[in-house]
Amino acid sequence: MAIESELTVPREIVDENRAALATVPRWITLEDRAAGRFEYGMPTRAYELMDLPMGGSPMIADLLVAIARARDSRRYLEIGVSAGKSFWLVARDMVARGGACVGFDFEAINPTLRSMLAGWGDAASYVEGDVFDPRAWDRLADRGPFDLVFSDALHDPAGLRAEHEHLRRLDLTAPGAVIVWDDLEQSGEGPMWSAVREIHAARGGVYTLTGVAINGWTGEHEPPHMVGVSRPR
Ligand SMILES: C[S@@+](CC[C@H](N)C(=O)[O-])C[C@H]1O[C@@H](n2cnc3c(N)ncnc32)[C@H](O)[C@@H]1O
Repeated sequence: MAIESELTVPREIVDENRAALATVPRWITLEDRAAGRFEYGMPTRAYELMDLPMGGSPMIADLLVAIARARDSRRYLEIGVSAGKSFWLVARDMVARGGACVGFDFEAINPTLRSMLAGWGDAASYVEGDVFDPRAWDRLADRGPFDLVFSDALHDPAGLRAEHEHLRRLDLTAPGAVIVWDDLEQSGEGPMWSAVREIHAARGGVYTLTGVAINGWTGEHEPPHMVGVSRPR
């Protein structure tokens, strides 16, 4: 049975995450961002907003922490990590509960994130690779299965289908895993929703798909956007 309350983020999670974010003065330096292959997927507008206070409305990282706590998730995969803001917020909660988290991105790990994870050992790891490269996925094979997956890399149907193919090929999602897809069409219809519905249907009838409008990695500085959550009924 789905845990209905898990999609309503408790105030204490927002407050904890805002306090944690306040300890991070700068998520990525201009130089490190410029050294990325595609500037860590962070347009200048987002870069300028990244380090501001995020406001008190829930953002996607808060929702992920809420789901992880409600389900006691212990294995997290984030596909598309960028500077590491959501990854770090989820990882610090999950690792404190004895879990382990893996980030996957075709950029090298942001040096700021690397230093924030220093001393965490195997509890937080990072795989540098392309979603479309089977060999990159092979390097994830012994780190799963994951019970919470956040798909936030390409925001494009072909990328979602490639992720799904490799998650299945390598059996990387545990039975009952929750998958969260970022940046779906607000209307509930369109190519992203079609891809998500197709992937969700392939998971079988024991899962339910819900759309949630929520702030992204720039918090209240940009309008809420739509995410899809596929989770056990
Ligand atoms: C929107 S950002 C991720 C934000 C992050 N999840 C957060 O909430 O803090 C998207 C990331 O996906 C990565 N990305 C884009 N295309 C990719 C691909 N084909 N393979 C792997 N990573 C990719 C980009 O490098 C970028 O860092």
